[in-house]
Formats: sequence, C-alpha cells, structure tokens
Amino acid sequence: MATVGRIEQEVGRVVELRGWVYNSSSKGKLHFIQLRDGTGTIQCVVFQGNVSEAVFENAGHLTQETAIIVRGEVVEDKRSRLGFELQVNDLEVIHRTENYPITPKEHGTNFLMDHRHLWMRSARQHAVLRVRHELIRAIREFFDERDFINADAPIFTPTSVEGTTTLFATDYFDETAYLTQSGQLYNEATAMAFGKVYCFGPTFRAEKSKTRRHLTEFWMVEPEVAWMELDEDMELAEDFLLHLVTRVLERRRPELELLERDISKLEAISKPFPRISYDEAVGILREEGVDFTWGDDFGGSDETVISSRYDNPVIVHRYPAALKPFYMKHDPNDPRLALNMDVLAPEGYGEIIGGGQREDNYDLLLERLRAEQLPEAAYDWYLDLRRYGSVPHSGFGLGVERTITWLTGISHLREAIPFPRLISRLKP
Ligand code: 4AD
Ligand code: MG
Repeated sequence: MATVGRIEQEVGRVVELRGWVYNSSSKGKLHFIQLRDGTGTIQCVVFQGNVSEAVFENAGHLTQETAIIVRGEVVEDKRSRLGFELQVNDLEVIHRTENYPITPKEHGTNFLMDHRHLWMRSARQHAVLRVRHELIRAIREFFDERDFINADAPIFTPTSVEGTTTLFATDYFDETAYLTQSGQLYNEATAMAFGKVYCFGPTFRAEKSKTRRHLTEFWMVEPEVAWMELDEDMELAEDFLLHLVTRVLERRRPELELLERDISKLEAISKPFPRISYDEAVGILREEGVDFTWGDDFGGSDETVISSRYDNPVIVHRYPAALKPFYMKHDPNDPRLALNMDVLAPEGYGEIIGGGQREDNYDLLLERLRAEQLPEAAYDWYLDLRRYGSVPHSGFGLGVERTITWLTGISHLREAIPFPRLISRLKP
C-alpha cells in the first residue's frame, strides 16, 4: 500500500491511499481534501470530470476525521508543502465522523489535554511525536554503534536513587516497592559486568510542583562506563548531544519547519561545549545581577541566565556535594564539591543531562548512606559493587522529554510524550 510518507516514489502511478480527512474545501467543479494517513498529509483533488457523480457528491460532504480510501494518480505539485498531490478517480467512505471535538478553532490546553488521544492527530502534535521517535532512534544508534550493551533496570525497586522526597510507593505483596527514579544503581552493576552499558526506560518522580519542565513519568536514557572519570563523562555527553541534534536535523527537518523551530540555532551547535564550574556559574549569575548564595541549587531562571551566555549547551560541573545524592564522588581537590556535571540546553530550555563520577570507595559510600539515613540493608547489593573489584566509573542520564522540548522549541514538555503524566493528570 502506498503511503504519503513515501509518495515521491509513486509519481505518475495510480495508487490507493487510506487515511482520514484532515480538512476539505470546494471550489466549483473541484473538491480539495487534505488526507492524513499517519505518515503525512497530502492534498487530494477531486475533479468532477474524473469521478462518478456519486463520488463527487460524497467528496463534497466529507467531515473532519472521516476515514476514507482514495485512488488516483500521484502528480508533482510544487506549490504544496509536500510537493505532490493526488488526482482522485475514486473515493470510498469507510467511517463517517460526526462532531469531531477538535476543530481548527482555538481550544484551551486543558481541553486538548483531555482529548490527548485525538489531539495527537493534529499536525503540530504529530510533528513533535515524530521528532520523539527520531530522537529515540538516534539515542540507541549512538550507544549501539559504540559497543554499549543495553541492559535495562527494573521499574519496581526497593530503594531511592535521587532522594526520598519524590518517591512513588506502591504495594508489592507484603512489601513496599518504589517506582524507579533512575536506573543508575543497576547500571553501575551492569557496567561492572559489561564495561559500557545503557538503560533506557520510563522513570518516575512524585514532583509536586507544576512547571513546564517536570513530568511525574518521563523517559530517561542512562549510559554508565567502567573506568571512566568525570572529564570523559563530559566528552561522552557532548558527543552524544551533538549526534542527537545532527540526526534530528537530518531526518526531521520538515517537522521542525512545521513547528517553526529556529533551525539555525540547532545548526549552530558544535564541539567543544563550554565547561564551567559551579563556582564560575555563580560568578556569571552575580555579574548578571542575580542575588545568589553559594551552596544553593540553580532554579530554572538561574539556568536561563547561565545558558544565555552561550549558543551551545553548557556543561556545569562540580556542584556543592551537599546538593547532590549520596552516590556522587567528592572532588579530591575540594571535598565540599561533587564530581558531577549537568548539561544546560541553550535558549533557556534548562537542564537536560545530569550525571557524574560515582563514589567507588566502600567506606566513604557507607558513610554517605548513613549520613543520609538511608536504609543500609536495602543497599547491601549496591555496596557489593565496592567490595568486589571496585573501579572508577561514571555516567549520566538524559531526559528524553526535556530534550525534545528543546529540539522542537515547544513551550511545555507535556507535548513531548504521547500520554503525559503530571501532578493533576492521569487521564487519558
Ligand atoms: O539529574 P537527574 O535527577 O539525574 C539522575 O537521575 C541520575 N541518576 C542519572 C545518571 O547519572 N544515570 O535526572 C536526569 C535527567 C535530568 O537532567 C532531566 O533531563 C530529566 O532527567 N528529568 C526530568 N524530566 C522530566 N520530568 C522530570 N520530573 C525530570 N526529572 C529529571
Ligand atoms: Mg539533575
């Protein structure tokens, strides 16, 4: 079966397309149908002289989202966005839609979110989710080409990774399980088994604040590498992001154009990315007139001020260790600092990557667990990794939806996932 996405291979041929009416209009002896088939949208022209009377009549009364099959010849049409149109000689209505709730008029966001299952048929949402697919493909491609082993982490876990305040607890027979916040601890185990690994899956955080940057369920890809230290971790993050930007530009340019993304901003991304310490970032904030106390974490607006200095993503390293989870290795040159790094996207899109070097010393790690009053017994297996052949290792996590938000230039990450989960949204 022919598809709109590959229609250029069909020029001059008579093909059958199956899809839904996106829009339609009429002018004298012509009906115009915008047909979407999931792979794209094509203009179908129904000329009275080319079809039966019944078909012409039908084509004049098509409602939005009616399912149809059309047959006709594919011809070039330089004026259309696609560059091709279909000259219809037959049309069959498969299911007639009445009162489709999402019309071309403006709808409020809540209404659209309630109709997410239909909203994703709209051109913009469709484009964003196609970028998502391409991004996921590029993510796997990057790691697979570099001999990383994909070893996924469990979703039901007995412990926290990123602090205990954002845990989702659930009954697990006679125990309490928590939905994973990050696969990192498991990654550290698989890295000691395979060297270079990544896990890729949904992660969960009970984020109680409503922001444009927080979902309660989001996808994270996390590489972890044995023997790798912080500098190399930053290099890996840089190469990785560059790969993602390049692939999306190569393969999803029409979608970015439809979304009116300023593509030149993405094309300007190049190595090396600036690397600044937390201390330097604090210096930038103060230069820009922000009243910032050393030791505090950066808020969204601070991140925007810092990243606005650069066209590239900026890597900020060595935050105060007190801000970071128990597993971070401390800087031997200044133990107040963690050997961590965050990557801030340009244009104020905020943190897209968080990671760093892990504490590989058994005694220090145990001390941290105790200081944070984490249940030691639940982490016993994790401590084994420091008992048996412990080596330096590092990794990071990239938030898929935050990255899509940046790449597509949308204003809220809820549109970057097919069915977003937010503090006040569990449906559809
Ligand atoms: O910085 P985070 O919390 O790092 C970790 O979870 C590490 N254990 C990862 C690792 O080193 N293996 O989260 C990583 C990224 C963030 O930079 C952000 O892109 C995304 O995950 N993220 C969220 N995305 C959407 N909604 C949320 N609530 C998010 N929280 C984090
Ligand atoms: Mg972080």
